[in-house]
Amino acid sequence: MNLRLIAFLCLPWALSAQTFMMNPYGCKDAVLLNGKWNAIVDLYSRGEPMKFPLNRKPEKKAEFLEYAFDGGLRLDVPGDFNSQLPELKYYEGNVWYQRHFNTHRAKGHRHYLYFAGVSYEAKVWLNGVKVGVHEGGFTPFQFDITDQLADGENDLVVLVNNSRRVDGIPAMNFDWWNYGGILRDVFLVKRPEVHVHDYRVQLKPGSRETIAGHIRLAGALGTQEVGLTIGELGVEQLLTTDAQGWVTFEIAAQPQLWEPRNPKLYQTRVTTGNDQVEDEIGFRTIEVKGNELMLNGQPIFLKGVNFHEEIPQRLGRAYSDADAAMILQEVRELGCNFIRTAHYPQNERIVRLAERMGFLIWEEIPLWQGIDFANPAIFKKAEAMLRDMIYRDKNRAGVVIWSIANETRPSAYRDEVLTGLVRLARELDGSRLVGAAFDNPRFDPATSTFRLDDRLAEAVDIVGINKYLGWYQPFPVPAEQVHWEVALEKPLIFSEYGAEALYGQHGPDDVAHLWSEDYQAEIYRQNLAMFRNIPNLRGTAPWVLFDFRSPYRFHPQYQNGWNRKGLVSDRGQRKLAWKVMKDYYEQK
Ligand code: GCU
Repeated sequence: MNLRLIAFLCLPWALSAQTFMMNPYGCKDAVLLNGKWNAIVDLYSRGEPMKFPLNRKPEKKAEFLEYAFDGGLRLDVPGDFNSQLPELKYYEGNVWYQRHFNTHRAKGHRHYLYFAGVSYEAKVWLNGVKVGVHEGGFTPFQFDITDQLADGENDLVVLVNNSRRVDGIPAMNFDWWNYGGILRDVFLVKRPEVHVHDYRVQLKPGSRETIAGHIRLAGALGTQEVGLTIGELGVEQLLTTDAQGWVTFEIAAQPQLWEPRNPKLYQTRVTTGNDQVEDEIGFRTIEVKGNELMLNGQPIFLKGVNFHEEIPQRLGRAYSDADAAMILQEVRELGCNFIRTAHYPQNERIVRLAERMGFLIWEEIPLWQGIDFANPAIFKKAEAMLRDMIYRDKNRAGVVIWSIANETRPSAYRDEVLTGLVRLARELDGSRLVGAAFDNPRFDPATSTFRLDDRLAEAVDIVGINKYLGWYQPFPVPAEQVHWEVALEKPLIFSEYGAEALYGQHGPDDVAHLWSEDYQAEIYRQNLAMFRNIPNLRGTAPWVLFDFRSPYRFHPQYQNGWNRKGLVSDRGQRKLAWKVMKDYYEQK
């Protein structure tokens, strides 16, 4: 058995002891706690000293309390709080959420609270008892609440804080709205004591006829029987775990391979005792051959686009199936087969729908520009985010690239942290590519060539280039004369390019400061002309699908708090550049 397979099969043992369960969406006893929650905005952080988590009511005649959850502010969950109240538009700080829920303590069962995403930091109490804390706005976390759970009415309190922090990921400055709140689904999940905590069901690296992976049980007190069923493939596998509830498997099978034109997914069930998790899983191989990108053994060109997890029309975070459908339908219309979910793991509803629609996915952790790499806490936080991202989506055939950073400045600390994360990503998942986005290629006027000298580019499998020629810097020479010699031995994705335009604004196509659609479209034409000079170009992703909100886009007439690089406006109107990209992808 080769080393890579040992790494593929064994390392997940430790990894899969991750905090949160795999795929609560596929568990039969998972109840959504979404809806209207009570809320208190706590600008001066008084809530903890005033014991808000106890959610007390005055008991004695003389007693009074200067807070109450009932009868006050009500906020939607999931959803950011900034878009729910005009006065919270720019708010960064503490917001308390509270709701009751009724349930029964089921004998022989564990009960969990699963949060799909809370930005930025969450502290959680149940019935006045603190059950846990989580930092990071874009990956799930869960707490076992079995011991705190009341039989009947329960009181759940969550303190959310979205203040930016120097040692945060992202840090103090980032070009998107700092939405805070319980952004994604919240589940109350009941599972038998012994249940399926984690599973990985993918093709064995290097094979298209062997399904391999692992199943990990929680609560196992000795060897256990587990089942893996993929009916359509005739897979009805009974397996026995070790005493820790862990088992790996290899199963011969002939799956139709997942690919953009035929995004085949198989109904898959993982069971043990009376516990089961349902999933839809696709099988494909993704690898690099020289500087070719190979999907299922065939070269592929990634026709992509970037987008934030935002619904511009609602000035808020995307969280629902309808939101995912709106965004991805626009991706479809553009003629794409690839998306970069910038710059953080977006919600599972987007990732799963994208996979069902046949989009290849670049996922990224928000190590975005000015990160304090010298601070040792950063590696720990980044490692946790990377583990959680890979853990959550390791069964998604659509996800092909794990990106560990965007536009970070080379330094000894940065190089050490990021090359460490590259190694970790490979250890955690040897079946996908590891990448990063670079904005530091340098132009050599003597040869009209861009080159990149960056240690991180040597470490990754695939290099993303972010360059805004025609916007942040002019084309140094006419576009068709610009050459690129960057990581020629690897596939290169032009992961960001473009220009800003206010929809409806028109003017000469050679004047930038008029923010015209004409200028934006011309800049796209020039970039596409330049792309012909990139020998290892294996994909592109314009920045960006929709205009999106940014707190440091100040031009009152043209931006007004929006980054206007969208191919589509904040109202869903397609700009001239949209057609330029549509035509380019049609002929690709
Ligand atoms: C950067 C960055 C994006 C940003 C974009 C811009 O490249 O990665 O997050 O929004 O440039 O300046 O518009």
